[in-house]
Amino acid sequence: MTLERKLHVAVLMGGWANERPVSLMSGEGVANALEGRGHKVTRIDMDRQVAARIAEAAPDVVFNALHGVPGEDGSVQGMLDLMGVPYTHSGLATSVVAIDKQLTKQALVPHGVPMPGGRIVKSADLHLRDPLPRPYVLKPVNEGSSVGVAIVTEDGNYGNPIAHDAKGPWQDFSELLAEPFIKGREMTAAVVDFEDGPRALAVTELKPKSGFYDFDAKYTDGMTDHICPAQIPANIEKLCLEIASKAHEVLGCRGTSRTDFRWDEEQGEDGLFVLETNTQPGMTPLSLVPEQAKHAGIEYGELCEMILASALRYHDQNTKAGDG
Ligand SMILES: Nc1ncnc2c1ncn2[C@@H]1O[C@H](COP(=O)(O)OP(=O)(O)O)[C@@H](O)[C@H]1O
Ligand SMILES: [Mg+2]
Repeated sequence: MTLERKLHVAVLMGGWANERPVSLMSGEGVANALEGRGHKVTRIDMDRQVAARIAEAAPDVVFNALHGVPGEDGSVQGMLDLMGVPYTHSGLATSVVAIDKQLTKQALVPHGVPMPGGRIVKSADLHLRDPLPRPYVLKPVNEGSSVGVAIVTEDGNYGNPIAHDAKGPWQDFSELLAEPFIKGREMTAAVVDFEDGPRALAVTELKPKSGFYDFDAKYTDGMTDHICPAQIPANIEKLCLEIASKAHEVLGCRGTSRTDFRWDEEQGEDGLFVLETNTQPGMTPLSLVPEQAKHAGIEYGELCEMILASALRYHDQNTKAGDG
């Protein structure tokens, strides 16, 4: 697919989240690809003057290449709604829910999406007692890229109970989400909006060489093997694709989303759990969504245009005469 009209696209990137460096790479990749396809691109490294800068650029559409807060949590989406500027990816309400791993459970589990049971715990209480039987995972509700994820194991690498001076996310966040540790394999599935509706592209298995899929493993070249398509039984692959589509639909995602899974293969289909749905997944040319798109026969630049097209379709369908 190619967009017939050449557009002026403002690519929003950077910002001040922990994932700023990743967003700059996503944004640069998208900007280069769109220029390569004949569009006019204005690159905007987001700061507090972002609204004025978008207004001054007056683009046809904003490509949101931000990751984390405030580009992925509804804030930027609400600003763009008010400005009446079409933008890519999910809207305000979806972003608010999907950025929060606990709210995501509350939205998806009633629709039959399997997720580990979790509870919000006060960091200050972690030194007194374990909130769940070990092994369990502690993570902030609204970070990404494995920032602040701690795995608390049986043999207690943080002490038992967690030692007062142990280094971990409890030092930086007053509340954390505690979840049972799901052993097994790590997988992810992207959904992309086609003209006739959303479609799950493929399942990738992620095999970090260091044992844990942390920030470094995610972004250091060669530290994680991406196996696309994942070498898993056909029923598990089908289930992942269905669940990723279901999450996209229930959350009301737009453009693209990527749902992360853990699979304890000893338990077959019952061992498959969703960890989260990312509404602003990585978009560097080597990121997981572009990789799955390629597997599905969609080149990177085409993928960027499909995401733009979805934004314009949505805007056209939802802007009544007189709005703005
Ligand atoms: N309940 C869990 N069981 C096992 N591993 C987990 C669990 N929760 C998180 N992890 C590990 O931490 C990584 C990051 O967690 P995730 O929930 O996807 O958050 P984010 O990617 O936004 O940081 C996962 O890819 C996985 O390796
Ligand atoms: Mg994740």
